[in-house]
Amino acid sequence: MSAPEDSDRLVQGTSNDAAISRESAARLGYIADPFIQHFVRHPQRRAPLINRGTFTRFQGVQKALRQFLRHTSQNQQQQQQTQNQVVILGSGLDTSYFLLAKDSIRAKRYFEIDFAEINAKKAATIYKKPDMRRLLPADTKVAAGGCELHSEEYCLLSGDLRLFAQDIVPRLLEHGFDTSAPTLFVSECVLIYLDPQHSDSIIDWITESVANAAILTYEQILPSDRFGQMMIENLRARGLELRGLMAYPSLESTRDRFLSRGWASAAAIDLSDYHKKAIPQSELSRLARIEFLDEWEEFSLLAKHYAFTLAHTTHSKSFASIKLI
Ligand SMILES: C[S@@+](CC[C@H](N)C(=O)[O-])C[C@H]1O[C@@H](n2cnc3c(N)ncnc32)[C@H](O)[C@@H]1O
Repeated sequence: MSAPEDSDRLVQGTSNDAAISRESAARLGYIADPFIQHFVRHPQRRAPLINRGTFTRFQGVQKALRQFLRHTSQNQQQQQQTQNQVVILGSGLDTSYFLLAKDSIRAKRYFEIDFAEINAKKAATIYKKPDMRRLLPADTKVAAGGCELHSEEYCLLSGDLRLFAQDIVPRLLEHGFDTSAPTLFVSECVLIYLDPQHSDSIIDWITESVANAAILTYEQILPSDRFGQMMIENLRARGLELRGLMAYPSLESTRDRFLSRGWASAAAIDLSDYHKKAIPQSELSRLARIEFLDEWEEFSLLAKHYAFTLAHTTHSKSFASIKLI
């Protein structure tokens, strides 16, 4: 196996890490995700501070998805249009589509994009598990030798995000992506693994081509302090490189990444502040009953190294209701 293929395989493996953490948080009752267990063959109980981090990350992403879909669906009913789109970049084994569908929250179009190797596993599991399969739209077809799922509403597409404009965009358009519809893009620990030239070209394409777009990113920040150095070295020891980290190392730079391209607004918050400001007291009390967390300093240090960034290309009403906190 050549070196680039090897590093792709290691990056693909991070989808398992994310699923194991999510399964740990779900099994203990931090989060409600009945589907993630289907993707984890060897469950592991994560440390309390990791479970708390997974819970907080999950809250941020689910809140943005639900706010966007609820708000755009209401607007559409009033205006008798039915257009809203979600694009999950590097979707891995993420179960959000099914969590939303279970609650009858549906997008007009929902795309998930990852490497074929990951999608093959995902598609096979979805088909094997009746609780997931029954949530697929009735017109769903398995395609690309089992690496893709196609339906009018939900598409699991395989490809390399480094070839976004050349390879991914034509596939999105072929499957009904509408450049004029309100669209929420999500990157949860994905753009950070790409060279900045590749992640920037995805953002450039959105800037130029999607009039009414928002993006939610959740990525690592602060590479230069001791914890940041340790985070980089731990990943490097596993052959993983956070290629985007030096180009976008702070809350300010992740915000400026969008503002400098003329986006109408961008806000960023680290996970520690998000935990303090966005999680209601009732939830914090519930979590305290699940598992005792006494490593608050460690949690805060860890959580300062992850950030949500939410940016909108326009001041459109579609996005007014999606807020980080
Ligand atoms: C840390 S995982 C996160 C998965 C998912 N977003 C989540 O939060 O559970 C990173 C994902 O990005 C995908 N990824 C990284 N680089 C990619 C690329 N160039 N093309 C397609 N997918 C990529 C990996 O395969 C992996 O599934």
